[in-house]
Amino acid sequence: MGCDRNCGLITGAVIGAVLAVFGGILMPVGDMLIQKTIKKEVVLEEGTTAFKNWVKTGTEIYRQFWIFDVQNPQEVMMNSSNIQVKQRGPYTYRVRFLAKENITQDPKDNTVSFLQPNGAIFEPSLSVGTEADNFTVLNLAVAAAAHIYPNPFVQVVLNSLINKSKSSMFQVRTLRELLWGYTDPFLSLVPYPVTTTVGMFYPYNNTVDGVYKVFNGKDSISKVAIIDTYKGKRNLSYWESYCDMINGTDAASFPPFVEKSQVLQFFSSDICRETCVHFTSSFSICKS
Ligand SMILES: *[C@@H]1O[C@H](CO)[C@@H](O)[C@H](O)[C@H]1NC(C)=O
Ligand SMILES: *[C@@H]1O[C@H](CO)[C@@H](O)[C@H](O)[C@H]1NC(C)=O
Ligand SMILES: *[C@@H]1O[C@H](CO)[C@@H](O)[C@H](O)[C@H]1NC(C)=O
Ligand SMILES: *[C@@H]1O[C@H](CO)[C@@H](O)[C@H](O)[C@H]1NC(C)=O
Ligand SMILES: *[C@@H]1O[C@H](CO)[C@@H](O)[C@H](O)[C@H]1NC(C)=O
Ligand SMILES: *[C@@H]1O[C@H](CO)[C@@H](O)[C@H](O)[C@H]1NC(C)=O
Ligand SMILES: *[C@@H]1O[C@H](CO)[C@@H](O)[C@H](O)[C@H]1NC(C)=O
Repeated sequence: MGCDRNCGLITGAVIGAVLAVFGGILMPVGDMLIQKTIKKEVVLEEGTTAFKNWVKTGTEIYRQFWIFDVQNPQEVMMNSSNIQVKQRGPYTYRVRFLAKENITQDPKDNTVSFLQPNGAIFEPSLSVGTEADNFTVLNLAVAAAAHIYPNPFVQVVLNSLINKSKSSMFQVRTLRELLWGYTDPFLSLVPYPVTTTVGMFYPYNNTVDGVYKVFNGKDSISKVAIIDTYKGKRNLSYWESYCDMINGTDAASFPPFVEKSQVLQFFSSDICRETCVHFTSSFSICKS
């Protein structure tokens, strides 16, 4: 007797059942193997996959700026009108693309410390304009001087310097100047040794951020990349309450096995505070 249709069906069913059982066994085993591999490979030490990506961040990290452009500087100065601003942006820079420096492992507490060199490259394709775009903004040096030196005699002197330098309450500056620094004409006239360069992030290029000390994950994978101390401290002593805490990672990497319900905390030294992100939706960056 050859193999009839019934026999074929039974054979198929048996093979299917065997495969299903195998699959049932292999799935958790495979998961276990994958988890084990991940646990080994995410540890931040020489030789792991994560380490290479961590020393020099594998993904592109951008920082975006929106600037308030003052629309009525004359009215504000002459008639004390309310200030009117227009928000312009985004202006995007690629940051954190330089390799970490002075990487030192500390086996005692399973941490690794490092310095993050600063660098920012303008990204025109993700920006509404160029670095040469002009903005009318408050003249920080002029506005601050009156507050720092309330003495009337000093203020008379400062006033004449402000006038001499043709500065006023508002100024027109390019994006590049505002962010990365410009030589202030008023401060340049001050007859004391003062810093004459003003800029929101001045100095930035050729400076380093840190020292950061983060957990390398050797003892607990859930702590990988989480900051232990920043500049040797656990809090910033700058803000009140939770903003002052240095929790989470530096946002360039996070521990593996993150659940959607989890809040990812990270610390940003540029704005000098910690912040967090909540999961909203998944997206794909592959457009093929
Ligand atoms: C200030 O107010 C006066 C009177 O309302 C007006 O004529 C003048 O144009 C205003 N100045 C500016 C700079 O808007
Ligand atoms: C980083 O390392 C270099 C030499 O390896 C050393 O000169 C420098 O002081 C270190 N920087 C810090 C902040 O420890
Ligand atoms: C900082 O350095 C980057 C190159 O690393 C350069 O593109 C950028 O113009 C520099 N920025 C300033 C303000 O010098
Ligand atoms: C910004 O202002 C400067 C000086 O007035 C001018 O040379 C430059 O072309 C302006 N930039 C743009 C993008 O219009
Ligand atoms: C400011 O300087 C101008 C000349 O640039 C002069 O006419 C004016 O009187 C000065 N104002 C004050 C308050 O010193
Ligand atoms: C900040 O940290 C220090 C120790 O690093 C601690 O003594 C102090 O209480 C902390 N301050 C706050 C406000 O958490
Ligand atoms: C942040 O870290 C501090 C310890 O530095 C901890 O007491 C606090 O609960 C943490 N905050 C959150 C929201 O996890």
